[in-house]
Order: sequence, then structure tokens, then C-alpha cells
Amino acid sequence: MDSPRVSIIGSGYVGLITGLVFAKKGFDTVCIDVIPDRVDKINNGISPFFEPRLQELHSECIDTGKIRASLDSVKEIRDSDITFICVGTPSRDDGSADLSYIEQASSDIGEALRSKERYHVVVAKSTIPPGTTEELIIKRIETVSGKKAGKDFGVCMNPEFLKQGSAVHDAFNPDRIVIGEYDTRSGEGLQVLYNDFDCPKMMCDIKAAELIKYAANSFLATKISFANDFARICEAFNVDVYEVMKGIGYDYRINPRFLNAGVGFGGSCFPKDVKAVIALADEIGVETPILDSVIETNEFQPIHFVNIIKRTIGDLNGKKVGFLGLSFKPNTDDVRETRALPIISSLIDEGVLVRAYDPEAMENFARITTLPIDYMPSWREALNGSDFAVIQTDWDEFKNIRGKDFRQYLNSPIVFDGRRSYNPESLIKEGIVYRGIGWKNL
Ligand code: UGA
Repeated sequence: MDSPRVSIIGSGYVGLITGLVFAKKGFDTVCIDVIPDRVDKINNGISPFFEPRLQELHSECIDTGKIRASLDSVKEIRDSDITFICVGTPSRDDGSADLSYIEQASSDIGEALRSKERYHVVVAKSTIPPGTTEELIIKRIETVSGKKAGKDFGVCMNPEFLKQGSAVHDAFNPDRIVIGEYDTRSGEGLQVLYNDFDCPKMMCDIKAAELIKYAANSFLATKISFANDFARICEAFNVDVYEVMKGIGYDYRINPRFLNAGVGFGGSCFPKDVKAVIALADEIGVETPILDSVIETNEFQPIHFVNIIKRTIGDLNGKKVGFLGLSFKPNTDDVRETRALPIISSLIDEGVLVRAYDPEAMENFARITTLPIDYMPSWREALNGSDFAVIQTDWDEFKNIRGKDFRQYLNSPIVFDGRRSYNPESLIKEGIVYRGIGWKNL
């Protein structure tokens, strides 16, 4: 395959961005989705979600004609040479991964391959439990198509490690590319697409590739919960946890990243993936005390944060909060598993009137909750006349708020910093009552 045509099933963050990366590298790429509005948007050059640099890249690839979107999965798969499965694997109630979209995608691929003579490569990119590629994807494709893996089609598992908020950058500059291959021919078919990526490329067993993704996310989540446990210890000893984590981060075996204490991790990946690992370990009778505690710490952080607020203010009934940041992290409009929800919900239970602002995520947040929240058009308006401020997402826009701004707009200059967005000492010098996770004097 010299210049394979690429089809991608599922046009969410991973699917669309993967598609755009291949389109930018010159491969003809089609993104398949079941949502007509999303397909129209992609074809009209309008990115369906916010992500830095996404819109420019999208417009460029539409102009070069290298990307398009379609609702017709079977036809598009048949007309391409490599198909990526990039559909969601959401959590079920018991924490395990819901694989129904994977099943549907596999059936579509089977249907397409039934009437196809040429060799085709199927690549699972979604985060899936070990064994899913072999037991579900391959078996389903073989049953529906009547074809044989390894002979008529190749299969790879190629996990994605991009982060929302820097997804475009990450997708072009991965730390490594992991390819679990069914056989050498499958791996070679996929490697053509990654030829000019300058990073380590690791070929491995398909199940190992599936587990590498879960292990990577579980480990990063563990680092965060570790920092959050230490944050509470540091608060009690009147020590800044950021100094302590900086001190350990110089050790190359530890490294300084993902040790930022705060109100916990959210998003569509860490909570879901750690819970999925716990559920699948439970199913096979393996205990996971570390991962259980990672989730426990994460669920406790918003409660701990609200406790800090209660301890500082006293009776919260009737108080107004200028609540800044609803997305689960900066530079995204995604609110899945955002810590804003448990924090706001507890504040409302205490009788607080919430005046919230987020630069990108207000519409999405209003969709996931009916809590009585006043959505404000700017941070100034959210703070104006409020009794205290809460920072839940460390958007740059909020980091630029000065002590004098808090003093000007708030009724009393009290700032609760859930993400350690500020230099506490300079705010304190400017007369602000500062309370931050893992900061001294709590
Ligand atoms: C995460 C992983 O970082 C990616 O490598 C992976 O590809 C992705 O999941 C996925 O599985 O698709 P993402 O959830 O987009 O990426 O964002 P992160 O930057 O990892 O942040 C997740 C959460 O952890 C956010 O709520 C963030 O605020 C929080 N966080 C992150 C901390 O509380 N402290 C930190 O030090 C770092």
C-alpha cells in the first residue's frame, strides 16, 4: 500500500484529530459518523468542538480536499484501505467499558469487507479492555464478512495518547507510537501512515497494546491522586505541596509532570479508564487496592475543597460565589466528569447562589445539569457583587486576574483556588484572603 486511503469510524476528539493528522500528511481521509450535524459541520469546515489549532488545521485540510466526512460507513470502509475504529467506550453503571459502539463498528467493517477482494487493514484506536480486539472485533468481522484475519484483512491495536486542550499538538508530536499487530503484514500496513513520525515506535502483542493504554492512564491518574493525598498532608503541616512535588519531580525517575494537586481529575478518560481497569480486574478476581484509592481520593477532593470553603466563610447560606471554570481542564469546552459539578452541587446544597463563567464550556455545562446556576457573560460579571471566588479550571484568562480585580469586584476579597492558578504570596500581599489546595494556613 503506497498511499493508503484512510477511513475513520467515529469523529469525536480522537477520530477527527487522527483523521486531520493523516489528511495533513497527504493521505485521502474520510471521517464516518452517525450524527448528520457533525458530518455536515466537518464537510463545511466547521470544527464540531473547541480545541486549540483545530479550526485552522480543519480549514486547511478541507481546502486541500484531503478530508471529508460521511454517514455511509459501509461504502466508505469498502472504498478505503485502512479503517480506524475511534468510537467511544463509555462507562457502564458497574464501571466496565460499554463496547456496543465497537460491536457496531466491527459489524460495519464486516459488511464492507464481505464484498471486497483487496486486503484491508483494521486498526482499533478506541480504549478497549484486553482481549477486545481478538475476541470481539476480529470475530465479529470474520462472522459478518466470511473473511479471515491474517489472510484477507490485517488487524492492529494502536492506542492514542493525545490530551484534550493540546490534542492537535500531541497528535503530531507523540512521545511514542504503540502498534499491537496481529501479524507482520498488518503492522507494516499501518506503519506506512506513521513513516515520517520521529518518535519511538513500539511493535507488540495486541493485548499488550490494549493494556498499555489503560496502564498509561491509570498511572497518570495515580500520580494526580498521590499529589492530592500529599496536598492534604501538606496543608496540615503548613507546607506548600507544590514545593514538595517540585522537589520530588527533579528525580528523573519521578519527573515533575502530572503532580499538580487540585480538585481532582475529570474528563472522558481518567475516571472512566481507571474504573474500567478496576472492573475488569474484579471480574477475573484480581485486587487493585492502589487503583481503588486513586478513585477514592479523586472523589474526596471536591468535598475537601468545599470543606475548606465552609471552614473559611462559616455559614454559606445566601452567599454568592463567582465560580470560574466549568470545563474539566483549560482549552476545551468538554465538561465530562468535570469537578465543577460536584463542587457546585455541594455549594448549592449549602444555600450558595452560584454565578458561573467559563470561556467555552457554559453551553455544554448547562446541558449536563439543571442546577440553578446564573451563567454570566464574563469573569468580571461573575465576580461582581459576589462574596467569594472559586477557580475550578485554570484557564489563562483567569490566571491573568489580579489581586486588585478581586478586590474591586468581590464584596470581600476571598479566593478559593482549586487549581493553584495563582502565586499565593503575591495575592496575599495584595490583600486577598487566599485558600488553595495544598497551600499553607488552611
Ligand atoms: C488523558 C491523558 O493525559 C492522555 O494521554 C490520554 O490520551 C487521554 O486521557 C485519553 O485517554 O484519551 P485528557 O483527559 O484529555 O488526557 O487530559 P489530561 O491533561 O490528562 O487531564 C485530565 C484531568 O486531570 C484534568 O481534569 C486535569 O485538570 C487533571 N490534572 C492533570 C490534574 O489534576 N493534575 C495534573 O497534574 C494533571
